[in-house]
Amino acid sequence: MSRKKLIAANWKMYKTPSEAKAFVDAFLPTVAGYTRDEIALFPSPVLLPTVIEAAKGSSVAVGAQNIYFAEEGAFTGETSILQLKAVGGTHTLIGHSERRQYFGETDEIVNKKLHTALKHGIVPVVCIGEVLAEREAGQTEQVLKTQVTGAFAGITPEAAAPIVIAYEPVWAIGTGKTATPEMAVDAHRIVRAEVAKLLGSDVASKIRILYGGSVKPDNATALCSQEEIDGALVGGASLKPDSFLAIVKY
Ligand code: PGA
Repeated sequence: MSRKKLIAANWKMYKTPSEAKAFVDAFLPTVAGYTRDEIALFPSPVLLPTVIEAAKGSSVAVGAQNIYFAEEGAFTGETSILQLKAVGGTHTLIGHSERRQYFGETDEIVNKKLHTALKHGIVPVVCIGEVLAEREAGQTEQVLKTQVTGAFAGITPEAAAPIVIAYEPVWAIGTGKTATPEMAVDAHRIVRAEVAKLLGSDVASKIRILYGGSVKPDNATALCSQEEIDGALVGGASLKPDSFLAIVKY
């Protein structure tokens, strides 16, 4: 069955509001009427209103890079899903490896955030992936299975439809080293099989699994044209409209 691909920009902690607006103003006309794949932008929380306003009326979705699992409360520095919804955000990344690495996010936290996103109708992009030492030790399959099982605890097949997974080998993020299409496809098959085990083959055949980790204009076609790869989560190469456009139109 064919799944609509999603090409997503993770801007990380870059751009001011004026830079973000300039990106959207330059980028939107270049994708006007473009329907082959979905496109989403993930800016920092303070940029969300600016980017959402600038993208209004287009088919480009805008989401957060992170949300907290509680809906509101005394959680200084966190972004609430109610706030995200109120400004018009529709998606959120969950469990990006930088969140896991620098901010202590565990599979358990990822799972709580996933429940919160689904409860509020926000499309979750759940990020998973092995670090270099795990790959070198032959543990990739086990790591991916553990992350998927942990993230999906308590999720029912009925609730799972909106979920997107991003497979991002940590050693490929921001390093210029990309998984080969074969490596990515192998990992995606492991992830899809695990989803099938947990939620059934129907959910598994429909769930989108993106690849992320040094996706660039010159490798996007080789990766995204694989049937098993349902799009890309792009960091560095998504910061400039022309380079992100080249990936979108791989
Ligand atoms: P990169 O980042 O494209 O700069 O490797 C990808 C990501 O972190 O989502």
